[in-house]
Amino acid sequence: PEPGWVAEADVVVVGSGIAGLTIALRAANSLAEFAGRVLLVTKDVLAAGSTQWAQGGIAAALGPEDSPAEHERDTLLAGDGLCDPDAVRLLVTEGPAAVRRLIAGGAVFDLAADGELALGREGGHRRDRIAHAGGDATGAEIQRALVDGVRADSRIEVIEHALGLDLLLGADGGVAGLTLHVMGEGQRDGVGAIHAPIVVLATGGLGQVYEATTNPLVSTGDGIAMALRAGAVVRDLEFVQFHPTVLWLGPGAAGQQPLISEAVRGEGAILVDAKGEPFMAGEHELGDLAPRSVVAKAILRRMNATGVPHVWLDARGLGAETWEGRFPTILAKCREHGIDPVTDLIPVVPACHYASGGVRTDLAGRSTIPGLYACGEAACSGVHGANRLASNSLLEGLVFAERIADDLERTFRTGRPARREPAKDRREPGVIAGSARREIQQLMSAGAGVLRNHRGLRETEAALIFLSRSHPGEPCVESWETTNLLTVARFLVAAAAERAETRGSHWREDHPDRDDAEWLGHLDCRLTDEGV
Ligand code: SIN
Repeated sequence: PEPGWVAEADVVVVGSGIAGLTIALRAANSLAEFAGRVLLVTKDVLAAGSTQWAQGGIAAALGPEDSPAEHERDTLLAGDGLCDPDAVRLLVTEGPAAVRRLIAGGAVFDLAADGELALGREGGHRRDRIAHAGGDATGAEIQRALVDGVRADSRIEVIEHALGLDLLLGADGGVAGLTLHVMGEGQRDGVGAIHAPIVVLATGGLGQVYEATTNPLVSTGDGIAMALRAGAVVRDLEFVQFHPTVLWLGPGAAGQQPLISEAVRGEGAILVDAKGEPFMAGEHELGDLAPRSVVAKAILRRMNATGVPHVWLDARGLGAETWEGRFPTILAKCREHGIDPVTDLIPVVPACHYASGGVRTDLAGRSTIPGLYACGEAACSGVHGANRLASNSLLEGLVFAERIADDLERTFRTGRPARREPAKDRREPGVIAGSARREIQQLMSAGAGVLRNHRGLRETEAALIFLSRSHPGEPCVESWETTNLLTVARFLVAAAAERAETRGSHWREDHPDRDDAEWLGHLDCRLTDEGV
């Protein structure tokens, strides 16, 4: 639709998780001397989004026995050959100071008896290096601190309930701003446009593309879909991570599922099958704390072997005191569902958790479109490779947000970026009806979930194409979001069908081995006039 109003800014940040909020805060500071106008738009309220749901914590080499080199090694091992070593090196070396700046900025983390940060352990880590807050409410505390910071900073303009629709491009192919749909903002109600030479996509993940996910309702892949429609390169979409342990809520459970953090296994809980037999010890040298792709696969195999639709987490050994002090959120959620983890086994199953791929970026967060940056789960910066290491995502959001803010400052120092006139011949994509959402999720879970094969992926691809033609919709939030889900689903399935090997979180039953001779590389994709 044609914009009914137009606003202007120097930098527009889209999204309000750890990445978006950190960029806005840092850019407001670094661009202050240039009177740079920073605008933050978010499709719900500032506090919504995935960050607030993060439980385990944020990984960084903060302990006296740890080192960035050891964090680097664990990250590279989890990434199964596809991490960008330079990006990982930056993440682990800049990470500890970035976490300390987060704490200095007001986030309150849990301390050990000696007054130092309390550090936990999660899958794939060979050291205790997970800093946490409120026991298992780390994301909520980080979100609170950053939202407080943004609210207190009058230099940052915020528009809530603002769904980004499409990027605007100038005649040279660079970013000219974006269109968005705003609800309930007075003069800026309805579809409008913001003209700006710099747009940062920090829109989070795409978990809602599957039936069962740990992601909140807002995680509909909006930034990745917008970037694709604008012609940006998107990388590694086939690597969707399934968290091994969400609370099993019965057959056919759909939507956001309660997470049982890996940190519970970090405190000693073990996975057992229907007969009460532990099964991780023989699977990996780290046993129950193996990288999560290994654990999720072992759980699926055990479920298939026993015919029981879940396994169990035995965390009774932690005792009431540890449960109450360290995992109050998970304890309350389990009890809400009639399970007392102090005395009962917890039924658990894998569910979609994290997109390791996304908009391809360089070490300064720049995408392949001039003026367009991406950060956090929406981006593919190279730190996760084929399988993200636990609790590296909050760290990535933080470290790369700071790098983007630094890059913006450098850019402004060499001359204020000129606004581009939006080109008129923008592609106007059709939208599909919101009623297709459930079907997309069912198709994706059945044909492109944890376990994949060529036939299932090609059938899913065909069904998605049929869906895109059979459900025309009217422009509205539900249709725009569902269109985004369909867009990312089609690219994800195409990439998964292409990669004929098993690596990291991509598991092909018809190609069960890692194949370095053919596949030690990335799948970059782009929307062209010919399609996917
Ligand atoms: C968890 O707490 O198990 C999730 C941590 C993560 O996804 O990094």
